[in-house]
Amino acid sequence: MASKLMPLLAVCAAALSGSCASTAQYGQPFRPQLSFSPARNWMNDPNGLVYHDGEYHLFYQYNPNGDTWGDMSWGHAVSTDLLRWEELPLALPVEKNAEGEVTQMFFSGSAVVDHANVSGLGEPGKPAMVALYTAVFPQELVLNDRTFKAGTQSQSLVYSLDRGRSWRQYAANPVIVQPPTPYAAEYRDFRDPKVFWYEPERKWVMALVLPNLHKALFYSSRNLRDWEYMSEFGPMGATGGIWECPDLFELPVDGDPGKRKWVLLMSLNPGGPAGGSGMQYFVGDFDGSSFKSAQDGVQWLDHGADFYAGVTWNGAPDGRRLLVGWMNNWLYGQQVPTSPWRSAQSVPRELALRTIDGQARLVQRPLAEFTRLRSAQLVNVPAQKAEGTVKAAGDVFEIELRLQPGSAVRSGIRVHGQTEIGYDREQGVLYLDRSRAGQGGFHPQFAARHAARVALRDGQLPLRLLVDRGSVTVFAGDGEVVLTDQVFPAGQGMSLFGEGGDARVHDFKVWSIQSIWEKAR
Ligand code: FRU
Repeated sequence: MASKLMPLLAVCAAALSGSCASTAQYGQPFRPQLSFSPARNWMNDPNGLVYHDGEYHLFYQYNPNGDTWGDMSWGHAVSTDLLRWEELPLALPVEKNAEGEVTQMFFSGSAVVDHANVSGLGEPGKPAMVALYTAVFPQELVLNDRTFKAGTQSQSLVYSLDRGRSWRQYAANPVIVQPPTPYAAEYRDFRDPKVFWYEPERKWVMALVLPNLHKALFYSSRNLRDWEYMSEFGPMGATGGIWECPDLFELPVDGDPGKRKWVLLMSLNPGGPAGGSGMQYFVGDFDGSSFKSAQDGVQWLDHGADFYAGVTWNGAPDGRRLLVGWMNNWLYGQQVPTSPWRSAQSVPRELALRTIDGQARLVQRPLAEFTRLRSAQLVNVPAQKAEGTVKAAGDVFEIELRLQPGSAVRSGIRVHGQTEIGYDREQGVLYLDRSRAGQGGFHPQFAARHAARVALRDGQLPLRLLVDRGSVTVFAGDGEVVLTDQVFPAGQGMSLFGEGGDARVHDFKVWSIQSIWEKAR
């Protein structure tokens, strides 16, 4: 009896915390097969992205008790290849008092590994994984002899000596009680610390935001416990909504290690390019204390409706800059027709800077390892007219092609029956049209077409598409234009189209993709 029970117990160890990840739980309609979603319940921002000891950690904003936002806790998943994820028990569960009232929620934040033990929180042979997060106290609370008014947001520290499996509160929390003067008294909203190591001055730097003022703030620390305010950035660029979830990092331009620029990612809600939540970025310089950008206009990180709160991994091997974002939108996110979970994270993306029209621009591509998931190649056509049904059974694909719009007014490819990815010649835009793509009635602004200006190269547009059960992601050109949209399709079927003229496709390839929830073949 005992021997029969044991393996079951082991598989479902996480069930105790409300999440038990077995393959059988990932077969529902619209369940993402290409990227992480929790087995059950609500998820939003990725948090605490850090690589340590062979594992990529993905923590995330999670409601362990429901499928809409609430009881904010940090969920936890790990991966050794950034493709297949294992959901672990809750990392930082919401805290409640004896009456069941919430006393602390764990909002977004980041994690680092303190190899040099500057924090003094590690033990010999056990470096501390240190996470800085926004502690939200929904009601008045006395902590370490200080009174926190209801609704206060402060920055707190937790640490783990067992690779993120269990966490301890730092005794002197919060480490940053309130925003710096002159904002201290007035601004309760103060959140989303992203910490990283700044090698030239051998110190830790933290970016965080005053959301309503459209400002990023920068702090520094030698020991991860005591933080000193350095500078602020903003408002600049898009300010049609609050600023959230900043990230700051350096990248070579055009692959030249001698030519480097800094990138500040900033989420914006609402006011995004497709309505509701969106992400912009600034390219500039960071001198260890302040970030400056001379950028004109707004650079959108993603032109679709479903890429938000994106941040990058700390400590990824080989200096890779890997980004993951929440594939949802605050506009309708709590109403999307999925069950028993709500929201997925994106497929991780690799970031680089490339000079385009004389400016350093962010370019993105799906994680290089993603091609390992390709299984059967269903289509391989050197060139053909853009018309007709494509023989490709299934609902999870990767597609590559170069679209030559020619004289066609609109041309491109339809997936899942009616989700259209095309080029509109009159407007000079690449678009993703999900308006006829299945379920969309749950919110008046869901059924829509999202578009971005894009330049053809020699009359052609290189496209790479990730088609999942509940989303489509389009990378165009060198990855300077990306569109991510959720879709809840009613049908299947792939076809090419060219309307009002002749369009062609070149090097048209379709692969079926192995689910990340299946064992590696
Ligand atoms: C962004 C955000 C963050 C906050 C978290 C709360 O989506 O609003 O600013 O920390 O979600 O869940």
